[in-house]
Amino acid sequence: MTNQSMIEIEQPLVKLTDCVKVYRTGQVHLKALKGVDLTVNRGEMTAIMGPSGSGKSTLMHIIGLLDEMDEGRYLLNGREVQSLTDNEQARARNAEIGFVFQAFNLLQSANLRDNVALPLIYAGVPVAERRDRAEAMLERVGLLPWAEHRPGEISGGQKQRVAIARAMINHPSLLLADEPTGNLDSRAGREIMDLFAELNESGTTILLITHDQGIAACTRRTLMIVDGRMISDSAGVNAACTVPEKVWCV
Ligand SMILES: Nc1ncnc2c1ncn2[C@@H]1O[C@H](COP(=O)(O)OP(=O)(O)O)[C@@H](O)[C@H]1O
Ligand SMILES: [Mg+2]
Repeated sequence: MTNQSMIEIEQPLVKLTDCVKVYRTGQVHLKALKGVDLTVNRGEMTAIMGPSGSGKSTLMHIIGLLDEMDEGRYLLNGREVQSLTDNEQARARNAEIGFVFQAFNLLQSANLRDNVALPLIYAGVPVAERRDRAEAMLERVGLLPWAEHRPGEISGGQKQRVAIARAMINHPSLLLADEPTGNLDSRAGREIMDLFAELNESGTTILLITHDQGIAACTRRTLMIVDGRMISDSAGVNAACTVPEKVWCV
């Protein structure tokens, strides 16, 4: 192994230093993040908690390259994000990051297979390969028999599984989920967390925002954000957590 590849393996996936984000609307300047430091290593599954309006989604948008910070430094997989052009950022986002949202954000007029295949259209993948890969992902989340159905015909938990299949289709290093169980009952929420645990075991790094203490208790690391500041990080406390995966605390 060369020194170069050893360095790459040891590189944190996310290294954010002193991140400041200000929203400017007319005369009003709102400091949503007031100097956040965060390092996420490959293989972690981490929950972000905190009151409504504390800056959780803002932080996730910055990590996911959906928004830019005003001050600070961000290294994604060792690359300085600020020095990338818009196109390079878009490419890094497509290659490295998958997103899951509370409201699922599926295309209602498309069947499940086409929903899952959508990111592959942007990536220019040929139609037959798109179909095969989308079906493989649907199988992985247990929904292959529903491939021809539309989002309106399935339950909330199933919709979120489709959204996760779509987020995973490019095999991202980092899966970001903003309140992924927020619209689900507790049973469907647990099933989604089982799926995250499975994806995490097979190597995907996961960062999820949740209001639900029971959901957060099922990750090894929990960050707490209050009023734009990170006030606690359980890394090191729970790092050696011996609670078996899939033992639920909700
Ligand atoms: N696009 C925006 N424009 C102006 N203010 C925003 C915008 N997005 C979020 N905010 C404000 O920034 C703060 C943090 O919001 P957000 O990151 O969405 O919090 P959380 O996800 O923790 O509920 C809130 O005060 C919110 O009103
Ligand atoms: Mg939010």
